[in-house]
Amino acid sequence: MNRIQKCIVFLLALFLLTNGAFYAALADHDEHEEKRWYQKIFDWDDDDDDNDDDHHRDDHKYSKHHSKRYLNPVDNPTYKEECGACHFAYQPELLPSGSWKKVLAGLEDHFGEVLELDPDSKKIIAEYLKGNAAEHSSAKRAVKIMRSLGNRAPLRITEIPYIREKHHEVSPNVLKRESIGSLSNCSACHTTAERGIYEDDYVSIPR
Ligand code: HEC
Ligand code: HEC
Repeated sequence: MNRIQKCIVFLLALFLLTNGAFYAALADHDEHEEKRWYQKIFDWDDDDDDNDDDHHRDDHKYSKHHSKRYLNPVDNPTYKEECGACHFAYQPELLPSGSWKKVLAGLEDHFGEVLELDPDSKKIIAEYLKGNAAEHSSAKRAVKIMRSLGNRAPLRITEIPYIREKHHEVSPNVLKRESIGSLSNCSACHTTAERGIYEDDYVSIPR
């Protein structure tokens, strides 16, 4: 082949390749309301997807990327009983395992309370929290939590920058209401918190 022929073959191959990618992206878009690949590349701040992708796939628990939409509801009876006695039993996916480890290491001063756990229960809870922590989750919220934390491991969910930012419009006076108490009381306002659903559609701030 001379140079011109090679050049033509190369251009043809390039055309076919890009064309295929283009149609794949189009097909994606139609089926899943997904962002196209080139949108994703430029999509540094993905906070806008909070609102736009939530309404279309209500009956799809998993998207094609096998990421799940919601956090798993708490399904460990020991955890629910011991760690849901004073407050909402937070889903393990709301904190990284480093945070849970710190929480369990500080039972004798748990935000001013002394927690007593028998060794068996403590072991069950530790394993449950570790195995289901945010870094193992593909849920949208957990991914955002991990992204927001980097390698930090705060003691509180309410210290996570992503979570703080999402609540910056909630005034301290509202949090002081008897029906709420503090931002830690997720289920006071998130009516579907127990099901692991924190979508803004299901927020209702009590009086
Ligand atoms: C005796 C009551 C009590 C029990 C039992 C208890 N906690 Fe707490 N916990 C508290 C209090 C009080 C706070 C602080 C709440 C606040 O600031 O409004 C808290 C806060 C937390 C927070 C931080 C919430 C935030 O602000 O993001 C986490 C995480 C937590 N608890 C995990 C656990 C785990 C895990 C267990 C089980 C091992 C547990 N708790 C059991 C009383 C308790
Ligand atoms: C005082 C009521 C209140 C409490 C308590 C509360 N939230 Fe929220 N939450 C809100 C409001 C209001 C929004 C913002 C909804 C919006 O963007 O319109 C929100 C937004 C969120 C979002 C983002 C939702 C979205 O669609 O972008 C997450 C995640 C979240 N909250 C998690 C939590 C967790 C976890 C807790 C407990 C540690 C908690 N919230 C406690 C009221 C509350």
